[in-house]
Formats: sequence, C-alpha cells, structure tokens
Amino acid sequence: MTTTLERQDPVRTMLVRIAGEQMLQAQVDRQSFGGGMEASQVVLVTARYREGGLPRLLRVVMKRLQGRPAREAAIYEGLVAHCASRISPRLLAVEHSDDSVLLCLEAIRRTASWPWRNLSAGSELLVRLAHFHRIAGEADAKIPAWDYEAELGLLAEATWTALDRCRSQPGLSALARDLPALRRIVLERVRLREQLLAEHPFGCRPIHGDVHPGNVLVCRRGQGAEPVLLDWGRARLGSPLEDASSWLQSLRVWEPEAGRRHDTLLAAYLSAFGADGGLTSSVRDAYWIAGASNALSGALLHHLQRVQEPALCARRRGGAVTAPPPRGSVRAPPRDWLRVLRRASASAGA
Ligand SMILES: Nc1ncnc2c1ncn2[C@@H]1O[C@H](COP(=O)(O)OP(=O)(O)OP(=O)(O)O)[C@@H](O)[C@H]1O
Ligand SMILES: [Mg+2]
Repeated sequence: MTTTLERQDPVRTMLVRIAGEQMLQAQVDRQSFGGGMEASQVVLVTARYREGGLPRLLRVVMKRLQGRPAREAAIYEGLVAHCASRISPRLLAVEHSDDSVLLCLEAIRRTASWPWRNLSAGSELLVRLAHFHRIAGEADAKIPAWDYEAELGLLAEATWTALDRCRSQPGLSALARDLPALRRIVLERVRLREQLLAEHPFGCRPIHGDVHPGNVLVCRRGQGAEPVLLDWGRARLGSPLEDASSWLQSLRVWEPEAGRRHDTLLAAYLSAFGADGGLTSSVRDAYWIAGASNALSGALLHHLQRVQEPALCARRRGGAVTAPPPRGSVRAPPRDWLRVLRRASASAGA
C-alpha cells in the first residue's frame, strides 16, 4: 500500500532523522508483519526517493512498543550494542513518546523463509548464541530490571490451574496425565531455579530469552549466510541453557531431525560455550530444568488457554493439542511442552 504521509507522521519523522530532508519527498510504502504476541506493531517501511537525479531505495523496519515490551529499546542500546551487534539487526534510531517507543531497525533480507531444514543452519545459530552468552557474561551491559522469578512463579501456578482444568474437558483429559510432573516442578521451582542459575560454567548471565524460529532470520552478510536474532524484548538475566533449550525444543517441533540429532546439536552449543566437560549428567539435568522454566513462563499456559476456548469443537481441540502450529509462528503445542516437563521432573528427582 502506498501512502502519502504528512510531515508530522512518526514514520516520516523517523525517516528524516536517519536519512535527511530528502525523505520529505520520498514515496513511502508500509507492509505490516502482523501483530506479534508482544509488539503492538512491526512494519517494513520502503522509501523510494531520488538523489542526484538517480532513483534510490531505503528499507527499514519500524517496531512500535508499549508497556513492558518497550524495554527492548534500552536492550538494543545496552546489551545488543555491546555484546550482540554481529547477530542482530542494527538499531538505526529510537523515538520516545508519552505512551510508546518507536524502534527503527535495519531491515534484514532473509535468504529463505524456512532455512532450518538444513541442520547446519540451526547448529550455526547455537554456536553464535554461545559466543553471545560468553561475551555477555563478561561484559557489564545494563539490562532493564524485570523480576522474572516472581513472574515465573505466578505463571507456573496459573499453568498448573489450566492443566488441572483439562481433566474434565472432552478431548483434553489425556493432557492431565502430566499433572504430577508439572506439580513437582511448580512446587520445587525455587530450589530448581537456584540450582539452574548456579550450574557451572553457565551461571546467571544475560540471555536473549525468546529464541525460536520466528525470531531468527538467516541473511547474507559478509562471506556467507548468517543467522540474525530479532526480538530482544525478553532479554534478561538467566541461564544460557534456557536459550539453548528454547531453540532446540522449538526447532524439533517442525524439524524432527533436530530431535533425532538433539544431543549432537546440544554438544555443538556446549563446545562453543567452552563447557569442557560436555554433556555431563549434571548439565543434562540443568538443561531439562531450563526447558521446564521456558514451558512455565507463559508458553504452555498460552496454548492450554487456546485449546480450552469454548468455541473450539472437540475434533479441532484434539488437533490443537498435538499438531504443529504454522512454522515458526508460535512455539511448540502443549504435547511437546508437557514432554519437556516430564523430562524435567525425572531430572529433578535424579
Ligand atoms: N529487522 C527486521 N528485519 C526483517 N524482518 C523483521 C525485522 N524485525 C522484525 N521482523 C519481522 O517481523 C516479525 C515480528 O517481529 P518481532 O519478533 O520483533 O516482534 P514481536 O511482535 O515481538 O513478535 P512475537 O511476539 O511474535 O515474537 C518477525 O518474525 C520478522 O518476520
Ligand atoms: Mg517475535
């Protein structure tokens, strides 16, 4: 859609800020990426203009954020600028207004809509993630405050309630078989989290906090294709194993081969991180607790609420419990998250 924007239009104002007065005459197209779960609006902006008589093109992404997600601006300016500039879009400008923040980011041109069939691309992402975790652990980058542990506690309780409710619902009662595993993790959450955040050599350090295929693009940069991590709004202090698990557990939903080669991929991450002992039983246990934390931090609750919507008929409800959602759009369906909780429960008892 082509729009002739007014001078005071925030998109136009942003374009003028990053590319000068010539943007006042540019023809501007906007293409929405659709509302995400967190951002209020993500738009690809294409500006066509003339410079020295020659036609030029400027493509940027603008992301408007409100409420807690607005912390992403400070994360780009701090953590990403210091520790993750090679694996992120460049932040071109930030505009603060009374109730929201507008981020202007380098538009990443992806090489393929689904580059993950090739497992080496997924492995490369893990290697780069490990390097980021190492650098971020040593740097002194500021991250906006977020009492994640308190929020996790509330979401874990709500997830327990939602799973308990499945017992009496047609098509969902099989899910409730995993109630004992979930109950165990929720009741022991504080101890398990302390143990996870003390696991050597990972400890507690800055992490991305939302690594899944919807938040990674592969683009051509330098010599070859490189994965780029988007969506830094959930970056926080945590265990790097939370990021590694988030990636591996979401990838295997769409690429079963990633499940079959799970330990090889995890070993690639551990080696790049410099965890010399490799996949010891202690690291494996911590990894599953990290996965359970991800399950309980809203992802499983979101899906349980979706499958319990009254409008969903019993047949579609059964499908939503097991069928993979559209590639990369959301993360694993309930069945997969519950599998992670079973593994974590076994690890918690080990
Ligand atoms: N810099 C960028 N270059 C190219 N595409 C981008 C860029 N930033 C975002 N996108 C596209 O917009 C989509 C949504 O962006 P992003 O994940 O940052 O927002 P979000 O609303 O927080 O998403 P969600 O809550 O669904 O994870 C991405 O999946 C990607 O397709
Ligand atoms: Mg996203």
